[in-house]
Amino acid sequence: MSFTTSRTEVTAACQTLLPILRERLGDRVTASHAERDHHSHGEGVPDAFLPDLVLFVLDNEELAFVVRQCYRLRVPLIPFGAGTSLEGHVAAVHGGVCVDLSRMNAILAISADSLDCRVQAGVTREQLNLALRSHGLFFPIDPGANASLGGMAATRASGTAAVRYGTMRDAVLGLTVITADGNIVRTGTRARKTAAGLDLTRLFIGSEGILGFITEIQLRLWGQPETVRAAVCQFPDLSGAVRTVISALQMGVPLARVELLDALQMHACIAYSKLDGFKELPTLFIEFHGSPAAVSEQIVTMEELASDAGGSGFEWAERPEDRSRLWKARHEVTYANLALRPGCRQIGTDACVPISALVQCIEETRDDVLRSGMVAPLCGHVGDGNFHLGILFDPSNADERERADALAERVAMRSIRLGGTCTGEHGVGMHRIHQLEVEHSDGVVLMRAIKQALDPLGIMNPGKMLAL
Ligand code: LAC
Ligand code: ZN
Repeated sequence: MSFTTSRTEVTAACQTLLPILRERLGDRVTASHAERDHHSHGEGVPDAFLPDLVLFVLDNEELAFVVRQCYRLRVPLIPFGAGTSLEGHVAAVHGGVCVDLSRMNAILAISADSLDCRVQAGVTREQLNLALRSHGLFFPIDPGANASLGGMAATRASGTAAVRYGTMRDAVLGLTVITADGNIVRTGTRARKTAAGLDLTRLFIGSEGILGFITEIQLRLWGQPETVRAAVCQFPDLSGAVRTVISALQMGVPLARVELLDALQMHACIAYSKLDGFKELPTLFIEFHGSPAAVSEQIVTMEELASDAGGSGFEWAERPEDRSRLWKARHEVTYANLALRPGCRQIGTDACVPISALVQCIEETRDDVLRSGMVAPLCGHVGDGNFHLGILFDPSNADERERADALAERVAMRSIRLGGTCTGEHGVGMHRIHQLEVEHSDGVVLMRAIKQALDPLGIMNPGKMLAL
């Protein structure tokens, strides 16, 4: 069932499709090189594959029409949101039609009473939060990039606030999806829980476009916390920082964010984001949400735990602008890393292990980096047992690229060996197909059966995740 139609045949089929699609979408369908190029890659390592056509859809019916046409001619369909994915999810490996959902960006409903909303897939998380502000609500899931909510659902994204608020798996109540044969299906309800049948919502969350399109999302929302305080604490060694977080979690301290940056990562961030006043030491960026009394109590506990592990006194980011500066620096780590070696590129790893294995996983990884001789800052969402290396390599040096890939592979295998996963939040895409097989050998057989049942022609984002 893997997608076997040749690239030439796909291109020919797209030429047949073009006038049919034009008739319905007008100039919102294009074969221009600039658009095809722009839609050929995300923000990961170079892995661009150009689609034959790019089109911009405005509603479910229009997209269902496009899918039915592609189904008829066996043309691959690749969903595209904000283009911020990291694992080659949007590359048109077999050519075909890239469907850009960014113009489906209406916020359909907000309910402050039920703490939920319904959005079209192209709404970005920043756009949503701007709209929620006047309702006293917010949507906490924050992968860093201003990603589209459809893309975040499709990759089961999480990021810095998942330790408190969960991931897209937890935040989505229901979806509208367009199936591979062009039907419009609603999954889930607005209820907070349900025991009604198989969980189709969760099946599509993290499906990376290989089962169908996500076009609408019913999301849980949260009230804006009364008090938000952020702090920075620096440690003489990495394990002290990690042990502090683990103790806090074991004691049930409800940290809203807790991010680890190793000494090299701090070096990069101090230089790039002008984080004056900090040392190049292993560091935690922490955020507390709650009532003033609850936040004060959490802070006292964290200060005690940190000082037991050799942590220096807390530096407070009291004012909202100081807090923004801190989180902006955290979100800019990729650019900070690239600035360490101008002209280089970066491969990101995404190990996520049970917190009891986190110190071992990070220490072994740190030693591995030293032995490899690669430049690879480490940062991560340690409250979830999830951390990234940003492995820098010179794209013109094949040997370095190979060593970077080998290091990334060892990190993923270590994570799996320690009871964790090869990807906590970035997804499989083109780059972790083999790792997924190691992690879930029998599970991959089931995943393929599901793919076969829902997409018998194999036109939905072929060549990703399951290599079909
Ligand atoms: C981060 C992204 C890369 O944590 O996941 O910065
Ligand atoms: Zn991350």
